[in-house]
Amino acid sequence: MCGIVGYVGERAALPLLMEGLRRVEYRGYDSAGVAVAHEGRLAVHKRKGKVRELDAALPAAGLPGTTGIAHTRWATHGEPSDANAHPHTDAQGRIAVVHNGIIENAAELRARLAADGVAFRSETDTEVLAHLIAARPENSLLDAVRAALRQVKGAYGLAVIDAARPEAIVAARNGGPVVIGVGDEEMFVASDASALMGHAKTVAHLDDGEIAEVRADGFSVLTLEGTETAKATQALEGEAAGFDKGDYAHFMRKEIAEQPDAVRRTLMGRLDARFSTAHLGGIELAAREMLDIRRVKILGCGSAGYAGVLGAHLIETLARIPAHAEPASEFRYRNPVIEQDTLYVAVSQSGETFDTLAAIQEVKRKGGRVLGVVNTVGSTIARECGRGVYLHAGPEVAVVSTKTWTCTAVAFALLALQLGRVRDLSAAQGARLLAGLSALPDQIAGIVAREAELAPLTARLVRSEHAYFIGRAAGYAVAMEGALKLKEVSYLHAEAYAASELKHGPLALIAPETPTVVVLPDDELLAKNLSTIAEVRTRQGPVLAITHPGVKVDGVEAAFAVPRSEPELAPILMNVPLQLLAYQVAQGLGRDIDQPRNLAKSVTVE
Ligand code: F6R
Repeated sequence: MCGIVGYVGERAALPLLMEGLRRVEYRGYDSAGVAVAHEGRLAVHKRKGKVRELDAALPAAGLPGTTGIAHTRWATHGEPSDANAHPHTDAQGRIAVVHNGIIENAAELRARLAADGVAFRSETDTEVLAHLIAARPENSLLDAVRAALRQVKGAYGLAVIDAARPEAIVAARNGGPVVIGVGDEEMFVASDASALMGHAKTVAHLDDGEIAEVRADGFSVLTLEGTETAKATQALEGEAAGFDKGDYAHFMRKEIAEQPDAVRRTLMGRLDARFSTAHLGGIELAAREMLDIRRVKILGCGSAGYAGVLGAHLIETLARIPAHAEPASEFRYRNPVIEQDTLYVAVSQSGETFDTLAAIQEVKRKGGRVLGVVNTVGSTIARECGRGVYLHAGPEVAVVSTKTWTCTAVAFALLALQLGRVRDLSAAQGARLLAGLSALPDQIAGIVAREAELAPLTARLVRSEHAYFIGRAAGYAVAMEGALKLKEVSYLHAEAYAASELKHGPLALIAPETPTVVVLPDDELLAKNLSTIAEVRTRQGPVLAITHPGVKVDGVEAAFAVPRSEPELAPILMNVPLQLLAYQVAQGLGRDIDQPRNLAKSVTVE
């Protein structure tokens, strides 16, 4: 989704802005642009396409100027084009605006400005803002932007510069994340703290309804109504190395390989051998409160939601609390009943997904309590929940989730263990799971090292147009995630079904040219899954299996066995070969793996 970067300081702004744009590229975008203020004028360059195309279009000597803003755009209003790319400027080319989000009353404002003689050069809602700000009579840019925003309805994270007053960037937030980065005699603005890694030492997050004036030597924050707000800064966590592919061809592959370390970090300090339990301090639930939980409802979108499906299964199995996962994107539209004794858990890698945030706000508005399971420290969802579990997976740069899916599943295993141990789960069972969790990192490393063994499965999928993924119970969560991963990066049509549902309809789709990938653990459902495989084989459907060593299946075309683990944790391991499979198929088909078409890393619009 759109990315914002801004710089004000003593250094040349352009190289820093371009570096920041490369850091936010992973969010997904279709055009990019930059504006730098110098000697009372703005230099603005914008291009449809990738940041490297913008780079190639810039003057060889760079641009003079120490204040600037830049943007990667993911089209909402108006097709991807040079004209619709940000920054947008007013008629005099004095004010430049970059904006994430949607201005809902843009049409009305546009008509009003057009009636006053403003000629528009783009189809975007953002251009309206540039003209509105330029028309304001206020003396400071801060006051002009504040006054303009009071006429605006909608969601935004934005940054504005004025060539006539280049000493400050004005940034504002209402729904779209904005982070201010503090350096030495220089300041940054970004939609995503990852853009600031290696430059800013500390960061401050704007809250909705706030506007900031950011100067080289500091910043001040007001509400849109004009009340000053004290903003605490916090250390910028994370390592710039996360944003470097190293020797890998793609971030997706690098992040798959990083999973053993990522899982170690999710587990670190949270395994309590003395009481054979997990300890998630951030959930801030006393044993008494845990006992009072009658239901768990998990909310997340896409992969986060599928990790939640597995999480619900783990909680119900280990803690014997009825648990259910629901797409956060749907939740608020059905006027959900919120119960006092239900624990709501919101899952989000980015911590910025609009739909998940809206679901949390719906729960809170009706008096419910929500825990966050989030990767990005200090993100909007983490702050909105106020308590929960950080994954500590490190930055995930590929648009598709891999290591954060695994770490989310591990976090749910920890939560299920902790809830279970205040209820009926015995110490022996707790100790068994602790051992199983501790073994996961090395087991995952072992799977990743055997990537080459997936070649026969990859070869079959590369020559298919459709693929089905099936699994039972927790295996269904893995099937859903496996199908999503394959469709996202390979663009093959991949569909997941609960194995038990196959004969209630989807069996009609089985054909010799359409492979079915079966999640086939050696557990109490093995016989049922083998019957389903027989039904597929009877219809000449090719079967590929992710299974355990020693499982014998008639007629399977190719299989990959993951190491045996505690049964509850097997889905976590079974998902890893499916990540590698999606990656290999996408590679075989020559896809844009790290930035698949039409997708964005953090979906900050509805
Ligand atoms: C899939 C994927 C998406 C995200 C979804 C939620 O690979 O990445 O389905 O899982 O958009 O994103 P977060 O977890 O940031 O809330």
